[in-house]
Amino acid sequence: MELQDRVAVVTGGSGDIGGAIGRALAAQGCDVVATYVGNVDGANEVVAEIEAQGRRGLAAPLDQRDPMSIDALATLVETEFGRCDIVVNNAAWNIGIPFPDLDQLDGDTWDRVLETNLRGPFLLCRALAGLLKSSGSGRIVNIASVGGLSPGSSSIAYSCSKAGLIHLTHCLAVAMAPEVAVNCVAPGLVEGTRMANRLPDAVAEGARRQAVLGRVGSAEDIAAATVMLCGADTITGQTIVVDGGMPGAMNFG
Ligand SMILES: NC(=O)c1ccc[n+]([C@@H]2O[C@H](COP(=O)([O-])OP(=O)(O)OC[C@H]3O[C@@H](n4cnc5c(N)ncnc54)[C@H](OP(=O)(O)O)[C@@H]3O)[C@@H](O)[C@H]2O)c1
Repeated sequence: MELQDRVAVVTGGSGDIGGAIGRALAAQGCDVVATYVGNVDGANEVVAEIEAQGRRGLAAPLDQRDPMSIDALATLVETEFGRCDIVVNNAAWNIGIPFPDLDQLDGDTWDRVLETNLRGPFLLCRALAGLLKSSGSGRIVNIASVGGLSPGSSSIAYSCSKAGLIHLTHCLAVAMAPEVAVNCVAPGLVEGTRMANRLPDAVAEGARRQAVLGRVGSAEDIAAATVMLCGADTITGQTIVVDGGMPGAMNFG
């Protein structure tokens, strides 16, 4: 589809990768809603960059652990733009808990990770389903992780949340067809990001060592993959891995 004059919601638009996705969609002619939960300054910076590209940007609050906040965002998008063509479920939360340390992964931490990274994206897709369908060319891109494809990441809860997000992609691709295409990008380590800084050292070192290209993923390539999936007309239910080529994540998608 032509991306010019489409309206995109990028959750976690205040963050490292979400900001790159918002800027990349604006460069294709989209107006962009960039959500934040705490970092309003980060969201405003991204909005300023979007507006410098001649598109409309809007920084909007969203705590996707809270269903009322999700519904309020959907109402805001409808009121402000009257349409929604693209949803990028990029927002997520992690905490570094080495896999063998089962006792440290308590129920509250598990719930926070799963509510943020899996339930939130589902509820947001549900809240915006009407607008996405009436767009005629609705697109959802879920930002998962290679940790959802093979067991290794900041925590077991995070890996399970991202595995769930990848399968949610499959389920929604079926449920929302033919009006909406639903795809996924699964990044590996992205150096210098807040999330990467919370990884156990051994996990980050393993990602660098395994990347056959000799470099790990980049926010720019994740944004480019997202833009490609938004523009494509015949791709749904798929996952693109952006990780510098870790063999353990090569046979999925
Ligand atoms: N960085 C990596 O190495 C890496 C690797 C694999 C996958 N990923 C995935 O890439 C995506 C972006 O990661 P990133 O590195 O850009 O992380 P980041 O800089 O920490 O950004 C995370 C974003 O999520 C938002 N957020 C956190 N909790 C939220 C909540 N409860 N409700 C709504 N928004 C919430 C944050 O908002 P505030 O800024 O306002 O707090 C922020 O905008 C995530 O899905 C992550 O799992 C990242």
